[in-house]
Amino acid sequence: MSSYQEAFTTSVEQPELFWKQQAEKLAWYQFPHTILSKDEHGIDRWFADGELNTCYLALDHHVEQGRGDQTALIYDSPVTGQKARYTYQVLRDQVAKTAGMLASLGVVKGDRVVIYMPMIPEAAMAMLACARLGAIHSVVFGGFAPNELAVRIEDAEPKVVLTASCGVEVNKVIPYKPMVDQAVMDSRWKPDYVVVYQRKQCLADLHHERDRDWSSMLKSAQPHECVPVQATDPLYILYTSGTTGKPKGVVRDNGGHAVAMRYSMEAIYDVSPGDVYWAASDVGWVVGHSYIVYAPLIHGCTTIMYEGKPVRTPDPGAFWRVCDEYKVKILFSAPTAFRAIKKEDPQGSHLKDYPMASLKTIFMAGERLDPPTLEWVKEKTGRPVVDHWWQTETGWAIAGNPLGIETFKVKPGSSTKPIPGYQVEVLNEVGLPLGANQQGYIAIKRPLPPGCLPTVWRNHDRFETGYLSQFPGYYVSGDGGYLDEDGYLFVMGRIDDVINVAGHRLSTGEMEEVVGAHEAVAECAVIGIHDELKGQLPLGLVVLKDGYFSENGEIEAQLLQKVRQEIGAVACFNKALIVDRLPKTRSGKILRRVIRQIADGEQYVVPSTIDDPSSLQEIERVLR
Ligand code: COA
Ligand code: AMP
Repeated sequence: MSSYQEAFTTSVEQPELFWKQQAEKLAWYQFPHTILSKDEHGIDRWFADGELNTCYLALDHHVEQGRGDQTALIYDSPVTGQKARYTYQVLRDQVAKTAGMLASLGVVKGDRVVIYMPMIPEAAMAMLACARLGAIHSVVFGGFAPNELAVRIEDAEPKVVLTASCGVEVNKVIPYKPMVDQAVMDSRWKPDYVVVYQRKQCLADLHHERDRDWSSMLKSAQPHECVPVQATDPLYILYTSGTTGKPKGVVRDNGGHAVAMRYSMEAIYDVSPGDVYWAASDVGWVVGHSYIVYAPLIHGCTTIMYEGKPVRTPDPGAFWRVCDEYKVKILFSAPTAFRAIKKEDPQGSHLKDYPMASLKTIFMAGERLDPPTLEWVKEKTGRPVVDHWWQTETGWAIAGNPLGIETFKVKPGSSTKPIPGYQVEVLNEVGLPLGANQQGYIAIKRPLPPGCLPTVWRNHDRFETGYLSQFPGYYVSGDGGYLDEDGYLFVMGRIDDVINVAGHRLSTGEMEEVVGAHEAVAECAVIGIHDELKGQLPLGLVVLKDGYFSENGEIEAQLLQKVRQEIGAVACFNKALIVDRLPKTRSGKILRRVIRQIADGEQYVVPSTIDDPSSLQEIERVLR
């Protein structure tokens, strides 16, 4: 049996043995007697009676083991010109004080803390400080508008909001504090405190009685010890787009997460303690949680927080510069980042300035890795490129090339094989497994491995109905695709209303709610259409109410502005078109798939259930 087959078989036939062996590699306060059990909802839970602290594993344990002088975190910020290094010892001490600062504001185990911050070391410190106290953090991506932040504050009910005075994008400074103030005003839940880290690019006005200055609080804070938590206690909530306007709070536990993080570093990325690992993402996304903060630190690696872009900060050589300068062994980013580099430097000429002697492998995830991008990166860098597929819900890769176990030949378009722990099956509409090369719903047979979500924050029904009830015994991923005759997985895209814009997961349903709320709009459809650079872009098709006319594109412009204000610039909702009617089935369902096919210039079949076939001609007219 091959090493992969052996690991995979043990993981599915003897999951308790497999994951117990992995759990033994961590420094628990209390090693679990119970490896796999069920909670009150009948959901599988890992290591229920184990006790640990995630911050201890990520920092203190390494200091105790003699890794205190090793660099834990490198901050590289081309947008501000700043660079800094933090050893494990220094990071531990800073995090202990940050935890002390939170404790002085009354934060205790189980309390929520919302973190709305740019890519600065204090964001990682804030996350780890929460983990240290057993408090539950919820990081909100800095590109989201106040309304999105308000929705999350209302759902998570944080005692404290941690923020910075501003984010710095290419050639622009974005003040955060006014957005936080707006969000707190709009939210029915009010945090006790808003703590602001002042950056010199723009100072925030701390005018409200709940406002506190981070740096002065930190000066007087007492270092706080790690608080033991149960393995099943939540470490964080991370909101992600679903099919409705309300984002889902994916809950991550402490124990399963830590075990999965460490295992993935060894089995998938093939890195060792001391190696430099760089996930070029943002702490606001799951990639940032897992692979900027938790996994590299739990595994004793050096991680990099990069506050910049793949291009324009200052040029398309930025990624190669960072890999070269810091001896990066593993680079991980979204395909869109490499498409941006390829667009600006098709010959890869910037690569010649940076030999990147330590760079071994490039990993990609977040969206489908299109074969031309795979080929270009492989050819220009001369490094193997690994596509791996995962989601906010799982927290780590479901399928990939597990380099630390066995290296498989790459098939372009495939994210290779299911990772040990994940029994991936492709099902038809009634939940029956399909044969090789047949496309269907990609599902994972339960139990899900450690690290995956056990529930949706304070809405367990949504977890059951959104993921578990469609096919009993399975978790439904929301993606469609197939397994080929060699067991390679091909993920073809979402089968729901979720789209991926520049590796950012967004809900077209949510955009429809915003557009539909405009007084002139009778109905609308937002669909994701193909984009060379960002993978997908949203496109709005809008029917106006009788009596409304858009003069000089005035209404279209208002709709773009509305989505920007309510969801954020990151939604890239840059195109809305007015049509007389939308193509629908006789039962009134909008034919989104056909609209998308027309927009993408694909062949399409007119569904027999269409109400008025001439409605498609109008769509053809406006889109082509
Ligand atoms: N805070 C505030 N605004 C932000 C932001 C942040 N953290 N991130 C993005 N934005 C804004 C941008 O300023 C831009 O605003 P604009 O329309 O006013 O110019 C808008 O959101 C869109 O940003 P972005 O998607 O980053 O587009 P871009 O054209 O500036 O850059 C890429 C394109 C491909 C270079 C960029 O999207 C990228 O680096 N993508 C990688 C994605 C990634 O890391 N995904 C995580 C999963 S691994
Ligand atoms: P997120 O939760 O933001 O990580 O987005 C998860 C979604 O991104 C998945 O459900 C997929 O639709 C898509 N995705 C992530 N990685 C890949 C990949 N390697 N190949 C294809 N799609 C991917």
